[in-house]
Amino acid sequence: MCGIVGYIGDKNCTPILLNGLKKLEYRGYDSAGIAIYNTHGLKVVKCKGRLSCLEDRINEEKPYGCLGIGHTRWATHGEPNDVNSHPHISKSGNIAVVHNGIIENYLKLKEFLILQGYEFVSDTDTEVIAHLVEYHYKGDLVQAVINTISELEGSYALGVISRDSNEEFVAARKDSPLIVGLGDGENFIASDIPAILEYTRDVYILEDREIAVLRKDGVKVFNHFGTEVKKEVFHVNWDVSAAEKSGYEHFMIKEIFEEPKVVRDTINPRIKDNSIVLDDIHISPQDLENIDKIFIVACGTAYHAGIVGKYIIEKLAGIPVEVDLASEFRYRDPIINDRNLVIIISQSGETIDTLFALREAKSKGAKVLSIVNVVGSSIARESDNVLYTWAGPEIAVASTKAYNTQLAALYLIALDFAAKKGTIDAQALDRHIQSLRALPEAIEKVLSNRENIQKFAAGHYNARSIFYIGRGLDYALSMEGSLKLKEISYIHSEAYAGGELKHGTIALIEDGTLVVCSMTQDSLFEKTVSNVKEVKARGAVVMAITQEKNKRIDDIVDMVITIPDVDPFVAPIVAITAMQLFAYYMAVQKGCDVDKPRNLAKSVTVE
Ligand code: AGP
Repeated sequence: MCGIVGYIGDKNCTPILLNGLKKLEYRGYDSAGIAIYNTHGLKVVKCKGRLSCLEDRINEEKPYGCLGIGHTRWATHGEPNDVNSHPHISKSGNIAVVHNGIIENYLKLKEFLILQGYEFVSDTDTEVIAHLVEYHYKGDLVQAVINTISELEGSYALGVISRDSNEEFVAARKDSPLIVGLGDGENFIASDIPAILEYTRDVYILEDREIAVLRKDGVKVFNHFGTEVKKEVFHVNWDVSAAEKSGYEHFMIKEIFEEPKVVRDTINPRIKDNSIVLDDIHISPQDLENIDKIFIVACGTAYHAGIVGKYIIEKLAGIPVEVDLASEFRYRDPIINDRNLVIIISQSGETIDTLFALREAKSKGAKVLSIVNVVGSSIARESDNVLYTWAGPEIAVASTKAYNTQLAALYLIALDFAAKKGTIDAQALDRHIQSLRALPEAIEKVLSNRENIQKFAAGHYNARSIFYIGRGLDYALSMEGSLKLKEISYIHSEAYAGGELKHGTIALIEDGTLVVCSMTQDSLFEKTVSNVKEVKARGAVVMAITQEKNKRIDDIVDMVITIPDVDPFVAPIVAITAMQLFAYYMAVQKGCDVDKPRNLAKSVTVE
């Protein structure tokens, strides 16, 4: 999604804006620009392409000023080109705006503004905002912005500057995240914390419909009625290196190698005296007695974690679970009541489809428990209970370590519910807890086997289509393995239930078709061996992922990636690391932009 940075202080803001936008590149974009206040008016430099193109333009034009806004655009309305890139300027050139989100009533507003004599140069919804602020501007920028946002429908995170004042600029948000960075004699706005982390660790997290007025000596925040609100300072305790590559070639491989640590960080603080202790969530045994169904709602990788969650919660806690794609859930008028618990999963905590699904669930009386990685994010703030995944900032667009920690969180929740409902005894609980404690070491072993995975990738990166098959938890796991490959290597792939192949899709298997087969479930192992034989008989090349103890299958497959002999119940948290590595090495072999795949954004804050 789009990246926003803003600055007011005593320094030349151009390098600060550029540096901030670079820290937001991971969000995905196709054009960029800045607008700077200076005595000659507003200086705008913007263009299609990567930040390096913008930097070239800036080196030619050398904009200088102590107040400015910057933007990286992920195109929604209007193709990626110079004119459609942000900042957008009002008719007189007095107002510059950067925007993340979608204005759903922009056409109606555009018609109104054209009748008022405004002319449009771009195909974007954002340009409407620039002209509308000017239309409302009578010398008070804050009031003009308040009047403007009262007419907007849809989502926005805004930075607004005026050529009339170098003393202040304005920011506002609704449904798209925006933070205010609090410096010493300087202040910032950003769509995400990494953009300003090297300048300040103290931030305000703007709530929906709040407006911030930034001056270099202070920041005031107002609600949309214009009443000042008192904001709590949120102190960011990440270390800056967490948002840096630290010597790895890509953020993605760095984040895969962080998996042992972040799985440990997510699990260990929640196991005390061999019991699951989830201080973060307040769901009592009595609450659980009143829950007759759980919905798990998410998008993309988080949705695939939810599919695994269904298996483990039903198996351990005996509560029926339904898993929904957030973008479908909110439009299918789901049958929900106060006897349902809705578990929302989101790495960023800002995915708009998931946020709106949360609101749909709450509007129908359900309690919401969310599993989120970004502290203080919109989804976290709107949930009744939050279980944070301590994965740290995940910069690569393709989610890896967050998925592993989402699974860990789901296991913790399932065990907590099972212990409270008495559906497992103390010995079973102890066995599961030992399995969880063994995970970091097991993942380390998979990482130490990466050369074998890299070698197999080197021989198959020209594949046109790859099948991921498995049964039960292995099928759920295959969904995520398939998505990982698709989104970073651009190789088509499909996850298929092993038992379903013979009902049609096996027709696609021919000489040389690559099949990745997950075989970590003891109870389904022999059935899956049959599936391997079915596809091998039709010419497939099979890479199996299974525990050490099943190494004997290397005489029926072409490659075995082994994982330690972990309990099948927790195997997905370990086996997925092998699949992530496979996808990574396939993408690297193909020379793809691993951290910033084409067309993708890290947090999809538009529908
Ligand atoms: C992950 O690899 C994908 N880039 C994407 O599917 C992501 O999982 C999805 O957009 C949900 O994001 P969230 O977890 O931040 O809500």
